[in-house]
Amino acid sequence: MADFSLSEEDKSLQELARKFARTEMAPHAAECDRVGRFPEEIYRKAWELGLMNLNVPSDYGGSGLSLFQQCLIVEELAHACAGMTTSIIANCLALEPILLGGSEELKRAILSPFCASYQLASFCLTEPGGGSDAGALKTRARPDGDGFVIDGEKCFITNGPFASLYTVFATSDPALKHKGINAFVVPRSTPGVVPGKEEEKMGHRASATSTVRFDGARVPRSNRLGGDGEGFAIAMRTLDQTRTPIGALATGIAQAAIDHAAAYALQRVTFGRPIAEHQAIQIKLADMSMATHAARLLTWQSAWAIDGGRKGTFESSMAKCFASDAAMRVADEAIQIFGGNGYMREYPVEKLLRDAKLAQIYEGANEIQRLVIAKELLKAYR
Ligand code: CAA
Repeated sequence: MADFSLSEEDKSLQELARKFARTEMAPHAAECDRVGRFPEEIYRKAWELGLMNLNVPSDYGGSGLSLFQQCLIVEELAHACAGMTTSIIANCLALEPILLGGSEELKRAILSPFCASYQLASFCLTEPGGGSDAGALKTRARPDGDGFVIDGEKCFITNGPFASLYTVFATSDPALKHKGINAFVVPRSTPGVVPGKEEEKMGHRASATSTVRFDGARVPRSNRLGGDGEGFAIAMRTLDQTRTPIGALATGIAQAAIDHAAAYALQRVTFGRPIAEHQAIQIKLADMSMATHAARLLTWQSAWAIDGGRKGTFESSMAKCFASDAAMRVADEAIQIFGGNGYMREYPVEKLLRDAKLAQIYEGANEIQRLVIAKELLKAYR
């Protein structure tokens, strides 16, 4: 029988994240958004509370949480600020390839010291000429003695300027397409690692995004993840894991939009009564609520399926795609309920729309998610 209740442990993790989000993140969200500030003091506190390396098993110093528990936390954090949440969970994305493809020795050597203090890591897949078409990446990894030399440029890298560790996807032979791609762990201290300038973004302005260049960055052979040519599959399997929490992030944005809109509708008076008493507003709130609940359930079901051992390609793409589309619609309706005020920076809802937009784009544009969903769906009918 399906059971939607949370265990005591789930509830206490959710409560921990909610308290952190409301007391440490929310009070700084508007200011960080306005000036584009990267609040490292908040990220450090998140690490101290165990809210950062959520997917890393406790054996290597992480929080060792199930994907379902990660989603509970991510929704709470994103309710306060999606941009900060993206920076907090970027470590999960960057470290997942190491969990999937690293040898036991490499995991101990890299993950344990990494998780033992506050540090950031970045996932370096996207390139100026290869976003959706990840298999077409051009960054080169040339074998060199007992190691590899990496040359190329990555873009839109979350936490790029502040990371101490990068997981980098590079090809040893572009003619081999995805079969030539390898994944590497590259410490920031490696000569030739050059983070570029921070981008000015529409939303997620508390998160830092930059290019990262690799100019002859040499890593030992032992820093390669998986066997020769397994890098592309490692990237795809990583995204299978991390797209579900993006569904949770989008659900958090949508829930925040409902909370702001409902509170506003109860106190804003037009035609002699609070606008919450007008059917036009009630219908909007009902649609916002249905979309948000459906997003949450699809996200939970995806996490549950992956925690139960399913690969999750189909489920995670549906959760990420549906929830981020829902968050856009719900944030848009929240602005409409606020009317002219909703369009003003002074009120909190226009930020939600700008933040929701990125969830439709990053970790694979929603058009790509639809292709993945259709491909998986059709497998059952072939
Ligand atoms: N798991 C394991 N292997 C997989 C896989 C999966 N989920 N999906 C595909 N593969 C394998 C296939 O089996 C195939 O292997 P073989 O050749 O051995 O049979 C190989 O990969 C190629 O598969 P496809 O033919 O399906 O690949 P494709 O080139 O047509 O493209 C794609 C696939 C789904 C479009 C992929 O390129 C993709 O996901 N693109 C989007 C990339 C993306 O999400 N980027 C986000 C970057 S991270 C980010 O945004 C970050 C941030 O900082 C927050």
